[in-house]
Amino acid sequence: MVKASLLFQLLSQIHGLLVAIEGIDGAGKTTQAKMLVKWLRKIGVNAYYTSEPTNGILGKLIKKLIRKKDSDHRIDALLFAADRIEHYYGYIEPRLGKGGVVVADRYVYSSIAYQGALTGDADWVRTINKWIPMAGVAIFIDVSPEVGLTRLKRRKLSKRTKYERLEMLRKIREEYLKLCRDGLMLVVDGERSVLEVQENIRKITTDALVRSGKIESDTIRWR
Ligand SMILES: Nc1ncnc2c1ncn2[C@@H]1O[C@H](COP(=O)(O)OP(=O)(O)O)[C@@H](O)[C@H]1O
Ligand SMILES: [Mg+2]
Repeated sequence: MVKASLLFQLLSQIHGLLVAIEGIDGAGKTTQAKMLVKWLRKIGVNAYYTSEPTNGILGKLIKKLIRKKDSDHRIDALLFAADRIEHYYGYIEPRLGKGGVVVADRYVYSSIAYQGALTGDADWVRTINKWIPMAGVAIFIDVSPEVGLTRLKRRKLSKRTKYERLEMLRKIREEYLKLCRDGLMLVVDGERSVLEVQENIRKITTDALVRSGKIESDTIRWR
């Protein structure tokens, strides 16, 4: 089982690279993912920014549901998985197939961490995401829930979600840390300055690009 899924993962990404940027609300994912794409393009890499939940029918439905405190976490999990199938096969995979680098602002790790923590069954969340390959590189931007929430204070009320509560974010962060301990994600300290965080993300990404033969190490400039 493990071998087959690993092969599937390698084959499906043989040309491109999928970079997942993850973290709790307010970690700096959107800021960092967009900066990364801009920089990759500047150094000549064919890069794309994309985010979850998507702006498709299912993604929009999810965005509406997770604003309500009482939406069912199990239903959320199923919808996130369905939205991701559309996202991966409709948007991500075709770009990887052409050798592109896709930077995803949230991906399957968000489901494992959020819906895993909130349904209490991360294995089930993994099962319903079985059609989704893991990313080539998954980066967890780690901030304390206190810092995440403070950063979000400026965000519009209409964009707030049911997850923006201290106890919930603590549980979610723990799930992310488990994924890091299992070797599925690399952790970056998100409480440093935007530029310092970006520099670490660029290093991890370029290492992966050099390893996959997409760029040569001496062609990279950091800023
Ligand atoms: N390293 C950082 N230090 C201080 N503020 C940051 C940092 N990264 C992001 N921010 C700010 O925090 C807020 C949330 O960032 P954002 O990228 O939207 O987070 P996320 O997408 O993870 O929810 C924004 O106002 C952003 O400018
Ligand atoms: Mg964001």
